Amino acid sequence: MKHLLSTADLTRDEALHILDTAQEMAKTQEREVRKLPTLRGKTVVNLFFEDSTRTRISFEVAAKRLSADVINFSAKGSSVSKGESLKDTALTLEAMGSDGIVIRHSASGAAERLATSGWIQGSVVNAGDGTHQHPTQALLDAFTIRRHLGERSDSTGLDGLTVTLVGDILHSRVARSNIHLLTTLGASVVLVAPPTLLPIGVETWPVRVAHTLDEALDAFDIDALMMLRIQLERMSGGGAAFFPSPAEYSRLLGLDAARLARLPSHAIIMHPGPMNRGLEISAEAADSPRSVIVEQVSNGVAVRMAVLYLLLAGEAEL
Ligand code: CP
Repeated sequence: MKHLLSTADLTRDEALHILDTAQEMAKTQEREVRKLPTLRGKTVVNLFFEDSTRTRISFEVAAKRLSADVINFSAKGSSVSKGESLKDTALTLEAMGSDGIVIRHSASGAAERLATSGWIQGSVVNAGDGTHQHPTQALLDAFTIRRHLGERSDSTGLDGLTVTLVGDILHSRVARSNIHLLTTLGASVVLVAPPTLLPIGVETWPVRVAHTLDEALDAFDIDALMMLRIQLERMSGGGAAFFPSPAEYSRLLGLDAARLARLPSHAIIMHPGPMNRGLEISAEAADSPRSVIVEQVSNGVAVRMAVLYLLLAGEAEL
């Protein structure tokens, strides 16, 4: 594997290998000295054209824990604001020497363009491109589900588990990456959204669909419930074109205390962040003992260490 662009590119064995490697990485993070020499002499560039807190910081932490040199590039404050293109930005980074580029961009396909353009020699990791893919988020989600619910699965993957994704599926790269990865790993996926927030052609996807959270709680056994953010920044015409009001959205899809109480006792609550508390998720749910939302962030470091290690160091000893 040279690049990580989409979870659709991963076979089950490749996905399990990344998750198993992440488990080894997580163990190294319990040691007194958490830094490994694995990527000493390598340079990782974090190329962020869109805002990020979790992904950008955790890639930086992951690369540093592997002893790589890290360059953080943010479009704000760079020559991108003077009109510099992705190509010229990439050529500039290449001229300075980079072994891996982690890219987040508002355009779907930007990571693939960078990987296949010939502008750079190194590996490309997609840290989120438009509404298309966010593969390391899906991998950290699968890692978290396996940690909590792996014993309920009848395989080393996620066979037999049901993961329910709720909210703005239409604009969510997290949803697209998760649907591919979760089904590759054997999980059953349920999507919960009004028709306006579901993509055209969803009936051809390997998922079951409900339109309200109450309907999903009635109809499906839920092992993991993943709440998604409404992506107002990607909605042409604003939110009103997709749902009547924030209050109505919460009424139909929000995870409040009453719906939290209806979940099976083993079910976990997930959210990729950033959360809009009081809209898609209540404070009771976000802060409940069932919530693994903060742990998702910690697991992101181990998963990103595994991805950087597998792409940049090959199969060297951990
Ligand atoms: N989950 C996620 O991608 O969060 P950030 O936008 O903060 O990176």
